[in-house]
Amino acid sequence: MIRNVAILGATGSIGTSALEVIEKYPDRFSIWGLTSHTRTENCCAMIKKFRPKTVAVSSEMIGDVGGFLTDGFGSVALLEGDQGINTIAAADEVDIVIAGIAGAAGFASTVSAIRAGKKVLIANKEPLVMLGGLLRKLVAESGAQIVPIDSEHNAIFQCLPKAAQVDCMSGGIDKGQGLLRHGVRRIILTASGGPFLNTPLDGMSDITPDQAAAHPRWTMGRKISIDSATMMNKGLEIVEACVLFGVSPQNIEVVIHPESIVHSLVEYLDGSIVAQLANPDMRVPIAAALADPERIESGVERLDLVRAGQLNFQNPDDRKFPCLAIARQAAEAGGAAPIVLNTANEVAVNAFCAGRLRFTDIPDFIQCALDKFCDRTADDLISITRLDQLVRETLQNRLDAGATSLQQMVAGY
Ligand SMILES: NC(=O)c1ccc[n+]([C@@H]2O[C@H](COP(=O)([O-])OP(=O)(O)OC[C@H]3O[C@@H](n4cnc5c(N)ncnc54)[C@H](OP(=O)(O)O)[C@@H]3O)[C@@H](O)[C@H]2O)c1
Repeated sequence: MIRNVAILGATGSIGTSALEVIEKYPDRFSIWGLTSHTRTENCCAMIKKFRPKTVAVSSEMIGDVGGFLTDGFGSVALLEGDQGINTIAAADEVDIVIAGIAGAAGFASTVSAIRAGKKVLIANKEPLVMLGGLLRKLVAESGAQIVPIDSEHNAIFQCLPKAAQVDCMSGGIDKGQGLLRHGVRRIILTASGGPFLNTPLDGMSDITPDQAAAHPRWTMGRKISIDSATMMNKGLEIVEACVLFGVSPQNIEVVIHPESIVHSLVEYLDGSIVAQLANPDMRVPIAAALADPERIESGVERLDLVRAGQLNFQNPDDRKFPCLAIARQAAEAGGAAPIVLNTANEVAVNAFCAGRLRFTDIPDFIQCALDKFCDRTADDLISITRLDQLVRETLQNRLDAGATSLQQMVAGY
């Protein structure tokens, strides 16, 4: 049976990797819907190649893509903006949704796909961080299935027994007891350490956005690349693991593994540690999730263990990467804290890219936002969205008001 796939964020790094896997299997998958935000040319090339039934693009792109469609692609339905993306995510014809939009911009469409009961392959970690425990409720109510394709979480998923996988996919995993019920003692998330693993502490303040976005192992979008450089990416992944697997932050360890071959590990009560290894390429977790419970070729070069040679592991340096401890504290605090963490981080990364914050200001900026906003209540979809907007607007207004230093930025909150 051919399964209809919708790719949210098709023009991004995840979307492109997903299309590369899918095009190898025309007898299994058909691209039903695609979405794009700014990359008109890439979007039109994808329409030409994959002939989707429906495409959603931003208002800025609608004229150009509409013009392109009149030239022989009249049968493709063109939708506009967030509403268009949400429509694709929830369309009756769609079996599998790949959530590959970057940041909180993917929140509403991820929720739409879950509420519509889809099989959702989630790369877009920020909506998971924002939803927290509400994810399990939404999934259990709608009958959706969640399969992580963030490489670490997909690795953990692959290391779990089938019964635990089913619990995680269907929202049946309960917080607290969570994976302990399946004999899991601990989750070990690996981190490459990013481009500044060996940079001395006093060399961190002059880092430029282009340096921060140059990841040594993975080719990814700009926001996640910068998150990897600050190690906030790993911090967000701690929250993501708590949400997906129902474990507490205390049961999650982070280890630096510069080779990025071991993608994460699960430790069981008997002392066994089960790991997933592969070359660092997102087509591996995407293929595993698309075919689950079967296996298909991903097109990725096979791992040669002898050539890989030594695999190294070390503890993260908390002084150099304070975002990791900040995120862990937010995960432990729960409630509104992970939402504030995520929003403040997005604003901080944008401000850093625009030259308005130094690299080393990012953790302080996020901590100030947490101190200000984390006692708010955000326990349903509306209050989560409102809190995200409030934090985003407050921080952005400070920047737009011309605050030139971090002190000015947070003064008078
Ligand atoms: N890349 C990886 O290897 C990787 C690994 C693990 C997890 N993830 C997660 O996957 C997500 C996507 O990452 P990525 O690296 O693929 O990012 P990316 O390359 O920047 O792509 C982002 C996609 O989202 C679309 N988009 C951006 N802003 C949007 C908005 N406001 N409204 C609607 N669509 C919007 C972009 O459209 P245009 O391109 O047309 O502008 C693009 O298709 C992130 O949450 C990231 O943390 C990525």
